[in-house]
Amino acid sequence: MARHLITSAIPYINGIKHLGNLVGSQLPADLFARYQRARGNEVMFICATDEHGTPAELAAAKAGKDVADYCAEMHDVQAEIARGFRLSFDHFGRSSSAQNRVLTQHFAVKLAEAGLIREVTEKQMYSITDGRFLPDRYIEGTCPNCGFESARGDQCDNCTKQLDPVDLINPRSVISGSTDLELRETKHLFLRQSEMRSKLQDWIDSKTDWPLLTTSIAKKWLNDGDGLQDRGITRDLHWGVPAQFEGAPWSGMDGKVFYVWFDAPIEYIAATEEWADKTGGDWARWWRTDRGADDVTYTQFMGKDNVPFHTLSFPATILGSNEPWKLVDYIKSFNYLNYDGGQFSTSRGRGVFMDQALEILPADYWRWWLLSHAPESADSEFTWENFQTSVNKDLADVLGNFVSRITKFCRSKFGEALPAGGAWGEREAALIDELNTRIRAYETFMEEKEVRKAAAELRAIWVAGNEYLQAAAPWTVFKTDPDQAAAQTRLALNLVRLYAVLSAPFIPDASEAMLAGMQTEDRSWPADAKAALEALPVGHAFTTPEVLFRKIADEEREDWQQRFAGTRG
Ligand code: 2FM
Ligand code: ZN
Repeated sequence: MARHLITSAIPYINGIKHLGNLVGSQLPADLFARYQRARGNEVMFICATDEHGTPAELAAAKAGKDVADYCAEMHDVQAEIARGFRLSFDHFGRSSSAQNRVLTQHFAVKLAEAGLIREVTEKQMYSITDGRFLPDRYIEGTCPNCGFESARGDQCDNCTKQLDPVDLINPRSVISGSTDLELRETKHLFLRQSEMRSKLQDWIDSKTDWPLLTTSIAKKWLNDGDGLQDRGITRDLHWGVPAQFEGAPWSGMDGKVFYVWFDAPIEYIAATEEWADKTGGDWARWWRTDRGADDVTYTQFMGKDNVPFHTLSFPATILGSNEPWKLVDYIKSFNYLNYDGGQFSTSRGRGVFMDQALEILPADYWRWWLLSHAPESADSEFTWENFQTSVNKDLADVLGNFVSRITKFCRSKFGEALPAGGAWGEREAALIDELNTRIRAYETFMEEKEVRKAAAELRAIWVAGNEYLQAAAPWTVFKTDPDQAAAQTRLALNLVRLYAVLSAPFIPDASEAMLAGMQTEDRSWPADAKAALEALPVGHAFTTPEVLFRKIADEEREDWQQRFAGTRG
């Protein structure tokens, strides 16, 4: 049994995420986790909310709430929505946990012991009007790299360049809008990433199987001299992991916290500790190569803007600690999903957000569309027309119709149990051959995390069954040869179970409905299609399931198109 550690980038606590965020990390991670579990492998699937730093403080202030209360509430909201989308985390943690505080401080100490931390007194932007320093998102201005006018102090959303607040052109305070800013001295801890360039270079060069998107971003940051500068890992903020603590090898850091991007990836580990504290499980066998994690395969999922932090910064923390922590084996990154001719916009409420999606249709509809159109090789676009076509064709016409047609036919001619009689012939043998080939291809794509290709193969598997049924036409055969029609019907009903098993990673609710209809708990992965099509024996009872997928009408589509064009905020 293989062991898979799987993490999804942890979403910021502020606000509800849109479908583009979902398909860029959590959803494909869930697909992979569900698939590996279905194959009988041991999985630890971790996600969390990213609660520290300026995004949380700003959002709490806007909501008029204490930041800790705000985070607790929003964590529950995000957890509930994640359940709604059937994201099967083994643990959905919180980066503000005690475990993460301890572990973040531990890493900082280890890095200091390795000589990789230096104390720097530098000048930072201070707002005279607001009476405070303005780190990261507390400051906005024009990006020096691309000219985007609303670049944040830490990163430009337009060109993804990591920034320093002092780089911004025409900077202003996000709190008050004030431009009455000055540079004031303040002390911070810097991680000497530049010392680690060759180690990181060797490590990335060894990852020849990674997606091009991941390695190209990593190499760009490594080689343009910019990405691997020493990096400030503390901030003048209150909300976060305190940078001054008992046993800290420095002083004078009171009232400062670690930078959110320093503690956020550490939360992958800390969340596993949170899981262990809750369940009595052993977190170390997932994360410490000296304590059983050497046979773990670790896969991370994230949007492309997160790649520099996961290919350089977090590995610098791990490698620099000189402790035997598990390093990531494979980083699957995604491009952006656009929305109907533009971008999703959180501030303008443009596009569909996770809570709204679940209000209008069940999770499987979204899961199927998003995964089958995942922005892997390039950015992709959500359009309502495309969504409607996919749902109506793939889910309703192909899969749903197959299930309803064969169960209803059997009920009317043979009753609600698998009928006896007849034998399989050439048509069935050909179908079995095709299924065996396609199932092996599907497995390969799933192992390779080729999400769109896996979806296309699954769709082809559904189509093969439909075409079989159409050509075999048991409803016609029944008139002259009921035994033959019975054999065909048995096969097709077994196909319903097989589809439930194969489709579960993509559409878990429909899969459960199909299994419930077929009155079986047999979720065994098909080693061979022939055996899989004989799993349910003659006489096995079933119930005819309700409609699995309904069609989306043109009026609904138009209505939704209007509604999500940009209203919020
Ligand atoms: O981009 C984001 O939403 C970040 N909150 C992702 C953090 S991933 C990791 F570092 F934990
Ligand atoms: Zn820019």
